[in-house]
Amino acid sequence: MDMVNLKIDGFDITVPKNTTILEAAKKLNIDIPTLCFMKGINEPGSCRVCVVEVEGWRGLHPACATKVFEGIVVKTASSAVREARKNILELIMANHNRECLSCPRNLKCELQTLCNDNGIDTIPYEGKVDKGCLDTSGPIVRDPNKCVLCGRCVSVCSKIQDVSAIDFAFRGANMTVTTAYEEGLASQECINCGQCIKICPVGALQERDDTEKVWKALENPDLHVVVQTAPAVRVALGEEFGFAPGTNVEGKMVAALRRLGFDKVFDTNFSADLTIIEEGNELINRIQNGGKLPLITSCSPGWIKYCEHNYHDFIENLSSCKSPQQMFGAIAKSYYPTKADVDPRKVFVVSVMPCTAKKYEADREEMSVDGLKDIDAVITTRELAKMIRQAGIKFEELEDSKQDSILGTYSGAGTIFGNTGGVMEAALRTVADKLTGKSLDCIEYTAVRGLDGIKEATVNVAGMEIKVAVANGTGNASKLLDKIRAGEANYHFIEVMGCEGGCINGGGQPIIKDKSTTDDVKAARIKGLYNIDVSCEKRKSHENPKIQKLYAEYLGEAGGHKAHKLLHTHYTAR
Ligand code: FES
Repeated sequence: MDMVNLKIDGFDITVPKNTTILEAAKKLNIDIPTLCFMKGINEPGSCRVCVVEVEGWRGLHPACATKVFEGIVVKTASSAVREARKNILELIMANHNRECLSCPRNLKCELQTLCNDNGIDTIPYEGKVDKGCLDTSGPIVRDPNKCVLCGRCVSVCSKIQDVSAIDFAFRGANMTVTTAYEEGLASQECINCGQCIKICPVGALQERDDTEKVWKALENPDLHVVVQTAPAVRVALGEEFGFAPGTNVEGKMVAALRRLGFDKVFDTNFSADLTIIEEGNELINRIQNGGKLPLITSCSPGWIKYCEHNYHDFIENLSSCKSPQQMFGAIAKSYYPTKADVDPRKVFVVSVMPCTAKKYEADREEMSVDGLKDIDAVITTRELAKMIRQAGIKFEELEDSKQDSILGTYSGAGTIFGNTGGVMEAALRTVADKLTGKSLDCIEYTAVRGLDGIKEATVNVAGMEIKVAVANGTGNASKLLDKIRAGEANYHFIEVMGCEGGCINGGGQPIIKDKSTTDDVKAARIKGLYNIDVSCEKRKSHENPKIQKLYAEYLGEAGGHKAHKLLHTHYTAR
């Protein structure tokens, strides 16, 4: 490898050719500030916050877009650099809605941190802060007056998610990021995944805040308010309270939910197990009876909307199973009331989800049974943290608590649903047992684990070769489906998760402050889920005793009439 010697701020360093000044400085523990830059996703070199001085060159140069060369001498904090950086930040702030105190990103805003670090105390320029109205049309709320035009959201939406619901429009002072015809996001092909929220350096993109709806329900004595928490929430919620990424805070989370006043604290892991029973049954049926293959999972609402917009020819391939969130709601308003002796019309179901698209899914017209909506309110992991803080609960000091019966018991398989490959692995654990008629010991399908974009495996079950694939994010799903369309690949079963990494990296999860550690944080959250899996007494969904009881007492057969009415749905070409 060709190496290059250079000097940064008086320190010598040798790095590979083609390294940027930004990367070289990092090796010396010099943190050059950035705003628009996100490695591999958004590298336009446009904001100029990262400018540095290069000896012998005129002007200043963006460290994120300038490659090093032999003998280069760089200054990252000279007075010229500091002055320019300050000036650039003042100009950005002049065009920024500065209601920081009431902004959901207050204290977690990258622009705010940059301004603090660079001594911005007054804004000497008059700017333009009336670039458009707040878009509250759907679960993703957009505020153009806070947008700093860094382009990160545009890049993640087009390059990673393959959606392109937003883009730059107009020129000069009127430049903005907006939708086609400046319509609300809800009318667009936006899949509500919220990846734009997570990547936005400021508060220009946020989820719709549904915490007030939940507070009101908790205060209503006529309602019986139950809550479910998705698998991935417990390995990320702790980050909001100073725990390391991946720390399992399930016990404290349950205790906090009790303190908030929920009548019962249940678990989406339970209904993830239920999903596996129904989906596994559907897969076996389709394989044995010549049904439409490949069967494609349907638990990620972002992926479902993406498919409804872009892959009409695959709609019949989608599993008819509702997602674990919706299955939970349907059971909480049918079976649960018969056991708890409550009026189903008074049961109010709250979901705590790592995913902003779950807000959209809960509001889909078809997600109700006999006039009762499956789910009444959805809040994200971040919104739950906010409620815990509002209630003055000292989360770190809570004693662990356990979920309530009868919708709170789960298997390891239900837990790993929260990451890419997890639904596939959970399904294979059950399908292999069902097809062989044995309880198999070999249950770790490691070929479908990990953060690769597309994972493939062939699993031999009872003499049958089952070909499976996992698409990690909608961008990768698109590549995989295009290969199938072209006749270059075929499978029996495909898992698709709308967000890269799966739910652990959903749009509602805690914002990762140091974006350079995103992959480490994803890996830590995934590890947290597999640690729970191995610690579970039961690691297969069909061995969950409460699921067995649910079928024995209420549902009857998997895929039977009652299961169909409550737990299955249909999709719409859009
Ligand atoms: Fe380098 Fe924006 S971070 S130009």
